[in-house]
Order: sequence, then C-alpha cells, then structure tokens
Amino acid sequence: MDLKAKFEKFELLNKQAESGGGAERIEKQHSSGKKTARERVAFLLDSGTFNEIDKMVTHRGTDFGIDKSKIPGDGVVSGYGKINGRLVYVFAQDFTVFGGTLSRANADKILKIQELAIKMGAPLIGLNDSGGARIQEGVESLAGYADIFYNNVLSSGVIPQISAIMGACAGGAVYSPALTDFIFMVEKTSHMFVTGPEVIKTVTHEDVTKEELGGATTHASKSGVAHFTGSDEEQTLMMVRELISFIPSNNMDEPPLKICTDPENRTDISLNQVVPVDPNKPYDIKDIIHKIIDDEHFLEVQPHYAANMVIGFARMGGKPIGIVANQPAYLAGVLDINSSAKAARFVRFCDAFNIPLVTLVDVPGFLPGTGQEFGGIIKHGAKLLYAFAEATVAKITLITRKAYGGAYDVMSSKHIGGDVNFAYPTAEIAVMGPEGAINILHRGKLSEEERIAAVEEYREKFANPYRAAALGYIDEIILPQDTRSKIIQALHMTHNKRKSNLPRKHGNIPL
Ligand code: HXC
Repeated sequence: MDLKAKFEKFELLNKQAESGGGAERIEKQHSSGKKTARERVAFLLDSGTFNEIDKMVTHRGTDFGIDKSKIPGDGVVSGYGKINGRLVYVFAQDFTVFGGTLSRANADKILKIQELAIKMGAPLIGLNDSGGARIQEGVESLAGYADIFYNNVLSSGVIPQISAIMGACAGGAVYSPALTDFIFMVEKTSHMFVTGPEVIKTVTHEDVTKEELGGATTHASKSGVAHFTGSDEEQTLMMVRELISFIPSNNMDEPPLKICTDPENRTDISLNQVVPVDPNKPYDIKDIIHKIIDDEHFLEVQPHYAANMVIGFARMGGKPIGIVANQPAYLAGVLDINSSAKAARFVRFCDAFNIPLVTLVDVPGFLPGTGQEFGGIIKHGAKLLYAFAEATVAKITLITRKAYGGAYDVMSSKHIGGDVNFAYPTAEIAVMGPEGAINILHRGKLSEEERIAAVEEYREKFANPYRAAALGYIDEIILPQDTRSKIIQALHMTHNKRKSNLPRKHGNIPL
C-alpha cells in the first residue's frame, strides 16, 4: 500500500466513525429535536478543544449476526477537551449506533476515560443516550456496566462526575448517572427509568406514559433524581458549563476564583425589610440570597424538588460557595424527609470539593405527621445532621428568624462545627415556638388570658437571639444590611481553615 492509499484508508475510517449509524439515523435523531453525540460534545466544549480517543475501536460481538455490522467508535464518542479553558473528560453515547447500547468494547472506552479523569484530576462528563445493555453481548455488557459503576464509586469525592441525560436511558444506563454527583435532563426529549412503561404494564398493570414515568419534570419534581433541567439540549449543555465554573477540578484543588467587581462591603438597606415583623408571615429566602451574593448570580440545584430547602452555588467576594437555606415561603421552611436528604447530599458534595458552606436558617422544626414518621424522618433528618457535622470545609451560618428544636442543632449550628454563627436581631432560638411551648408547659390549665400572657412572656424570654449569644453559641448579632460584608469577612477569615476528622475507613451515614 503506498502512502496515498494509507492516508486514504485513514480518511475513510475516520469518515465512517464520524458518520455513526448513517445519514438516516442521524436524520431521525435531528427530527426528534436531538443532536448527535459528536454535535453535543462540540457544543459542550470550548471550540476546537476536543481530542477524541479510541475512535477506531469496534465491538467484538459475534452473536445474532452483529459481527457483520461494525462501526468505528462503536456507539460512544470519548475524549478530552476544555470548558472555559479548564480540562474535562467527556463521553457521549451515540444513539445512532446500536441505540447507544453498551458493548464490552464500548464500556472499555468509557473505563479508559474514567481512569484518565481520575489520574489527571479532572471532571468527567457523561452525555447519556442509550438503550442500556447491548442484548447481543449478554453478560459481557453487564460486566461492562459493573466496571463503570465501580469506577464511578471510586471516583466519587475525588473528581466531580456529571451526567447529562440527552435521550432514552433505560435499564443499566440509569445507574451510572445515579452514582454521579449531578444529573441534568433535557425537557421532553430525555427519559430515565429502570423498567419502561411496557414492563410496568405487564407486572403491575399500571398505565403510565414514558414522560410521566421518567421525563425531566418527573425526575426534577417527584423523584428528585435530576438536579437540573434544560428546555432543550443547548440550554442543558450550557448549564453543565455553568456548573463547571463553580467547582474545582478535583478534591485537592481549590474552587475556581473569579475577579469580583461587586463590592465586598456593599451594604443593602432593603435587606432590613425582608424578614417580616410577624413571625408567622412567610418571605422568600431567595430575596436574601440574591441580595448578598456576587452579581445576583445563583445556580440553584433541584429548584423544583423539596422547595422548602433551597440549595445552590454562588460566589461571594469571587469565591465559590454552597448555599443551604430553609425556605419560609414553602411549607414554612420545615425540615422533612425530602428536604433533609436533598440538603445532606449537597453538603457532602461541597465538603468533598472544598466549597465553603453558607447556611441560612429559618426553620420551625421537623414536619410532624405519620407520613413523615413512617417514612423514616428520623433517619433522613439524621442524614443532614451527619453531613453538616462531618463537613470540615468552612461553615458560616446565619439565623434570620426561626431556629427551633432539633432543626436549630441540625442547621450548621455552632455545636456541630459552625465556624462563624451569625443571627439577625429577628432570630428566635429555642426548643420550640411560643404557642407550642406554653401548651405543653401548662396543658390547658390556663385561662385564655393567662395563656396569651404566658405566650408573650415566653416570646420575650426565648424567642430572640440573645440567650444563644450570651452563651457564645451565636458569635455575632448583625443587621441584615451588613450581611454580605459580614459573610465575606468570615469567608476570608476561614480561608485557611485546617480541620480533619479522625482517620477511619469511612463513616456510616444513616442511609
Ligand atoms: C441492542 C438495542 C437495544 C439493546 C435498542 N436497540 N435497545 N440494541 N440492545 N438493549 C437498538 C434497536 O434495535 C434499534 O436498532 C436502535 O437501537 C434504536 O432503537 P429503537 O427501539 O428503534 O428506538 P426508540 O423507538 O427511540 O426506543 C429507544 C428505547 C428502546 C426506549 C431505548 O429501544 C428500548 O426500550 N430498548 C430496550 C431497553 C432495555 O430494556 N434495555 C436493556 C435493559 S437491561 P436499529 O438497527 O433498528 O436502529 C440493562 C441491564 C444492565 O441495561 C443492568 C445493570 C445494573
């Protein structure tokens, strides 16, 4: 073979790889509002930075005549590139090739990328669009999945792992994303389920559509499986880029600093009016969040799930932070099963990746009821307590209003390692609210007049921050207008925090 022929062969194989499952399947992908794997990777990464690995890999299956059809690359595009100039590893399943299903060779490509990402300390992003295990390869495909899961677990807390669900994700295809840190879904065109509508119909006789069962809305609001949703593929991939901008490349790195043009000592008089005088009146905690962070830029995580807890990323003084905040505007900001688990996982992510935690507290307590008790609020609430107590990153806490009962302890209190604990003058820190406390202390023995007087007396004595401040449990009572500057100074003060828990194999978080 002469030189020209050698180059031509290379060009041909390259072209074959790049045309995936062929023009017809690509057209089908496009007509259903989806990009191809290569188009997605190109859109996700900084222009011209993608370097593909294993483009010539083909499957090694022989059953059901699959050996007659081999496409270079075999249903997954993998490699590395940059997002905002920072290295990331990426794989994108190609639905046009055998439905993006996992062959042994295909799994080996993903494993190689995972191992590179761990070795080089860079985030791994998976763009998922797959029919699951490749039926023709049987147990080899299952083995491939298990190998990927294993790497997912060993990478957890070492490098950030992000999954974007860009199409169908059935069977084994959902479990690798489930082991990663964040799941993005595209509205209407992406689905995740372990067993699809047809199997469900056969087994439980339930009628459910693909969208109801595993669409983006379902996973973002009902199951809590998805953390972010985008209205289309482009918006979703842009959100992945945005998330990357807040997080470090690995657990040994600092989160990426940005030059801050928003004055660090900016006071905001309007903050003094956000918390209502009437303790039973709701307000939106996001009004406080937006006013205190840099440039009002808040990337909220799981905004549609357990809305009584707000979590997300922002910057203060240019430094990325994780915000955990009770939301008085939804269920009075009460702690329940879903909100506890939601916040606990976020706290653990921030702790694993050196992102300081800023906790805003306005919580009347844990939600009472048999639903919660039978559902295991005891163990789920304990997750949040565990996560905050275990976290060794800087922990700055601000009590804006209510901090009652166990929820006071749980929400990054001084007692479980809060480094700086602030309170507004409107804070109420006690075992329980005045009405409940008086009912228990006097159990119907008081006339209505006496009861009202007792409630008032309790409110005066306990529903304020001064007892806690007198004991040093609150370091400083601050005016709302100074919140931004106070928290930023606390973040500077804690910047070099050194704290590690005792060595152990691992803790045993109540799961
Ligand atoms: C081999 C598959 C396949 C599979 C789809 N294809 N799933 N090939 N193994 N698992 C092929 C189809 O034959 C078709 O090939 C192409 O992919 C596109 O599939 P369509 O069905 O035409 O597409 P669509 O109508 O969009 O439906 C997509 C789908 C559906 C929802 C993903 O294909 C489906 O339900 N597939 C099966 C899902 C599943 O049950 N997977 C196994 C789960 S078990 P042609 O050549 O016609 O284009 C599992 C175990 C792992 O994953 C466990 C680990 C814990």
